[in-house]
Amino acid sequence: MIYLDNHATTPCDRRVVDQMLPWMTEFFGNPHSTSHECGRRAAAAIETALAVIAQSIGVPADSVLITSGATESNNLAIDGVFRHPRQKRRHLITTAIEHPSVLDVASRLEKDGFRVTRLAVHPAGHAQAGQVDLDAFAAAVDDDTALVSVHWANNEIGVIQPMPQIAAIAHSCGALLHSDATQAVGRIDVNLGQVDVDLLSASAHKFYGPKGVGMLTVAGGTTRRRVRIKPLIVGGGQQRNLRSGTMAPANVVGCAAALQVATTEAAETETTVAGLRDRLWTGLAGGIDGLVINGPPLASAERLSGNLNCMLPAIEGEAWMAACPDVAFSSGSACSSVDALPSHVLTGLGRSESEARRSVRFGIGKFNSQAEIDQAIEQLVRGYAKLSP
Ligand SMILES: Cc1ncc(COP(=O)(O)O)c(C=O)c1O
Repeated sequence: MIYLDNHATTPCDRRVVDQMLPWMTEFFGNPHSTSHECGRRAAAAIETALAVIAQSIGVPADSVLITSGATESNNLAIDGVFRHPRQKRRHLITTAIEHPSVLDVASRLEKDGFRVTRLAVHPAGHAQAGQVDLDAFAAAVDDDTALVSVHWANNEIGVIQPMPQIAAIAHSCGALLHSDATQAVGRIDVNLGQVDVDLLSASAHKFYGPKGVGMLTVAGGTTRRRVRIKPLIVGGGQQRNLRSGTMAPANVVGCAAALQVATTEAAETETTVAGLRDRLWTGLAGGIDGLVINGPPLASAERLSGNLNCMLPAIEGEAWMAACPDVAFSSGSACSSVDALPSHVLTGLGRSESEARRSVRFGIGKFNSQAEIDQAIEQLVRGYAKLSP
């Protein structure tokens, strides 16, 4: 199997697994049972790991909450802000192309009487295709806006949002800013010492760490604005009463180790995956007439370097995938491909339902090789030829 679906998940780096293992076997203590050495050792490992995570994204260590992943982080950030008993403002601004773990929370808030604005993004063909329309955003934000939630980078078309400008507009009316940075952290520079984001979500399995662990930074932006959130999960009062439940030392250690490796090797990884992604595009475009890129141009600095999303001239993405069983790629976001609806990200770009169904996403990762890309091109072009009229 040639795995080209690294936006859905990435394989756990061996070096990360090696660092995790002792915390499941030898050092199995409960980090919250600090009356004995077993627990204290686990607690110390978590503290060290939190410091590494915090340093990698430029926030104070006490602003990092560990969660089960970005879905939980997004839920906690958005629901948490609006459902806090002292929250007076009732307006949420987000975009039409967020991950469902943001959009579904927004819809539920709307049903409960909160006001939600879903900003459009610049359409296909525009120089900033996929980026938030900043004029429309500036017109939408008001004194009732409690929170703006805009993802840092998109999981389908790889577009990177202009976060510093978004932060300035959000804060101009006293709103807080949350960013779902799940596709950005570990891939591009995400440093809250430089960009004023009040809440930030990420997930370790997107940067070669384990599944089932993520983070939410709270009040980590440059201004360290006061952020009040109501917890989703209550119980033992762990993590400052904001996220109860026993923390998993192996997962937290793995998350930190993966982030450290990803940050250290970021430049090298970026060059490798950009080269492979361009090779894949050149090969596919050479073998399939009329293939069109969705989202920003591949050379754009506003696109994740491993991302390729393209639209076939005929043939649905699902059929192409079925014709190429040895290549793992996706016909939309893996997180939402349980339903058969056309991608809301592509329709948000102005693509029709039929165009969205003819689109596929490739995510190149650091473990892909040139030989794999060449084999994938051969299989994909052959598969397409078999199907095309
Ligand atoms: C942008 C984005 N947000 C959130 C998520 C959900 O992450 P998790 O799998 O950690 O819940 C994903 C997963 O694909 C994602 O791409």
